[in-house]
Amino acid sequence: MSKKSQIKAIRGMNDILPNESPLWLAVEAVCAGVFAQYSYKQIRTPLLESTHLFARSIGAETDIVSKEMYTFDDRNGDSLTLRPEGTASTVRAGIENGLFYNQQQRLWYTGPMFRHERPQKGRYRQFYQIGVECYGWSTPDIEAEVLAMIHKVFTDLGLQHTELQINSLGDVDTRERYRSALIEYLSKHVDALDEDSQRRLTTNPLRILDSKNEGVQALLLDAPSILDYLSPESADAFACLQGYLQDLQIDFTINPRLVRGLDYYNDTVFEWVNADYGAQSTVCGGGRYDSMVEQLGGQSTPGFGFGMGLERLVQILQEQAAPIAKQQEQDAPDAFLVSIGDRARKQMISLQAEMVRTGLRVQCHMGDGSMKNQFKRADKSGAPIAVIIGDDEAVEGKASIKVLRRTEAPIAQRTVMQNEVANTVTNLLESL
Ligand code: HAM
Repeated sequence: MSKKSQIKAIRGMNDILPNESPLWLAVEAVCAGVFAQYSYKQIRTPLLESTHLFARSIGAETDIVSKEMYTFDDRNGDSLTLRPEGTASTVRAGIENGLFYNQQQRLWYTGPMFRHERPQKGRYRQFYQIGVECYGWSTPDIEAEVLAMIHKVFTDLGLQHTELQINSLGDVDTRERYRSALIEYLSKHVDALDEDSQRRLTTNPLRILDSKNEGVQALLLDAPSILDYLSPESADAFACLQGYLQDLQIDFTINPRLVRGLDYYNDTVFEWVNADYGAQSTVCGGGRYDSMVEQLGGQSTPGFGFGMGLERLVQILQEQAAPIAKQQEQDAPDAFLVSIGDRARKQMISLQAEMVRTGLRVQCHMGDGSMKNQFKRADKSGAPIAVIIGDDEAVEGKASIKVLRRTEAPIAQRTVMQNEVANTVTNLLESL
């Protein structure tokens, strides 16, 4: 194929290559393990949903719905959208399958999400999230549980410099009153607002709080704070959550400008931000969304959850050279099998299956190749032990075992019967 016609991945969509996937799997395993400890169950929903689902839940004025969704008509003329996030799909599935009917749910999911954003470090058009959604609790205790769970995930991963920011957006009434106050304040300084913020002043003024523009940031220093507009119930719930976090010894800062990019939240919202990573520094974001279930046609059910960006998490762990990232780099088989001749190769394939049955991780040299060449590959595989079946060993049903990696006194090569290889290798590995 000529270079010109080479087909490339779509911009903003990445391959996760075999040298990276061990760390991905390890991160997912840590999350799944912690979620299981807190009795969360996994839910898997389709990547494609009816476009209405997202328009009705995320908010028509959000960037996601107004300009970032991958939407198309299928062959029946139905408008479908590749999911830009997991919350709306989880609510849809919960309503459709009666999961909220007289029940509470602790759910988690993982998989790709799609947003047509401008790609840059930490921002992609297909990206992976691990998320959690809880249904049926309106009290801050569930919020504390979820934040404690995220904290445990980060601790187990060895993630550093990642701090929790929290805010309360209050109820609908709070936001209405705050919205008016913010518009009143910003309208007096309209000339100091950038074009984007001027547009948002009428469509979605709270999102101006999120502006990265320095002039706008300066203006916001004197803007009214949403925390001064909370109802007594919302203020109490927010104070209660802070008490739980203090008891849990989870550090946090209150950021009254934290508004999130999706419109479905009320009361508690939060983000975990990594100081070292650059512009796309939020590794995890979420909050409470008590009206979505009802809005999508279910019985009124409170919801609370988060989404965690896996690309960002994996890259930060790599950049921080976290032990979990280093361990995965050293991911090697326990033994590498080398054989000379057809008879030996036949025995090698059976021996591999036998060793794997006992729990060992075993790689074989496939096809022909000189002993020298095969040993080169054994070395490259990183395996600490080579098992060799040559002509002589094959005749006697034996194999030779050689330790490849050892800094101290070398261990002599030894020859054992093939049915003793698994045991011998296991014992040797323990002594290395
Ligand atoms: P979100 O803030 O849009 O929230 O996304 C959650 C996380 O996904 C972000 O903090 C970030 O780590 C990652 N992320 C988002 N967009 C991208 C992107 N283009 N490229 C790479 N990573 C990205 C939600 O999606 C909500 N559904 C969270 C939630 C669940 N709220 C309640 N329940």
